Amino acid sequence: MDKLIVEGGVPLTGSIEVSGSKNAALPILFASILLTEPVTINNVPDLRDIRTTIALLLLLGCDCGYENRKVRISPNALHPKAPYDLVRTMRASVLCLGPLLVRIGQARVALPGGCSIGARPVDQHLKGFEQMGAHFELEEGYIIGRCRKLRGAHITFDLPTVGGTENLLMAAVLADGETVLENAAREPEIVELANFLMSCGAHIDGHGTSCIRITGVNSLHGTEFTVMPDRIEAATFLAAAGITHGELLLRNCPFAELEAVTLKLQEMGMEITATADGVLAKCARPLHGVDITTQPYPGFPTDMQAQIMSMMCLAEGASIVQESIFENRFMHVLELMRLGAQIKISGRTAMVRGVKRLTGAPVMASDLRASAGLVLAGLAARGTTAVRRIYHLDRGYEHIENKLNTVGARIRREKE
Ligand code: EPZ
Repeated sequence: MDKLIVEGGVPLTGSIEVSGSKNAALPILFASILLTEPVTINNVPDLRDIRTTIALLLLLGCDCGYENRKVRISPNALHPKAPYDLVRTMRASVLCLGPLLVRIGQARVALPGGCSIGARPVDQHLKGFEQMGAHFELEEGYIIGRCRKLRGAHITFDLPTVGGTENLLMAAVLADGETVLENAAREPEIVELANFLMSCGAHIDGHGTSCIRITGVNSLHGTEFTVMPDRIEAATFLAAAGITHGELLLRNCPFAELEAVTLKLQEMGMEITATADGVLAKCARPLHGVDITTQPYPGFPTDMQAQIMSMMCLAEGASIVQESIFENRFMHVLELMRLGAQIKISGRTAMVRGVKRLTGAPVMASDLRASAGLVLAGLAARGTTAVRRIYHLDRGYEHIENKLNTVGARIRREKE
């Protein structure tokens, strides 16, 4: 396992290119199973989760190639099985369920199991597919799904699940008749998936709202599609500029999709402006505390909760963080406290009291975004911070230390 050694105290200055969106690319790769012709997907970030998805698509029978952030996929004769060894390393593997059911009428997908941030059930996915005519059994930890032909249905989610919306959207585009998804998630990554599917001939309306209408078609043709930039990677770099009191220009950076984040960072004292060359973020003044509650899009994203908490640790005054999406997404708190942060947790609420400085120490990454928060804290801490188990980080950030070092950070990767 690798670790990152971070020498703190350097204001970051310069420009960084934002990579393609992991959480848009993953469902789009799985959606390629729906097509009867080859597809080319551009701007796909070089991440562990992408490599895992390509390995899974190969196992499912697709021909796949990945080179220079371009993925070429030819969906051939499909096999129904997504094995546990792959699924347990990436929960998003459950997104092959909808495409397999609607293409070949069967699927054998390992139940992903929980992860460090929560139980991560898939009950909303299965309930929707059952309304469309699928039947499921659980056998030796595998969800076995069968259906003669999926038919359109009026589905209302109990909660705006991102993965559930994506899975049912992918099944509905080839199902018989019309499907309505109510209380659907509105994330930009879902809009991107819908745009990809429509570029292949799908009939979709209302994507990006909480009510999506899909009219099934008989088949979907190939396409060439370029994935949008990663709003969470971009927001992480905005936070890096803030916590180090630097000045960063983010090229190819989404802006409108980051409104909930930029408003909070500006409230903390950052200046964030969209320019012709990209998004300029700087922080010359001391940071001050803010309160946040994580919400489904367009609210403050749960995937930025750890990163902004690191900033709060060094902000003047107190901050309150309410984590309303996942039941256990404070694993980074104890690690931040090892650096000198003052944080109290009560259930899904954390109270952060800003301190004058953090002091570097060895810390342990527990999940993807917690790792990012610890790297940010290390960039601002006095001395050396060793972030261990950074395989979590490599799942969602493309060569993060290289990008940060080009703007003045002093980070090196070492073998444990
Ligand atoms: C997606 O996960 C993202 N992953 C997550 O990003 C992100 O944190 C999450 O959406 C919320 O925005 C990808 O897009 C690959 P959900 P997903 O279904 O789809 C509960 C990252 O860091 N729920 O919207 O799994 C669930 O337990 C990752 O990039 C059910 O109860 O999220 C959770 O509490 C981490 N039943 C809440 O809903 C279900 O059937 C939100 O889950 C499904 C979900």
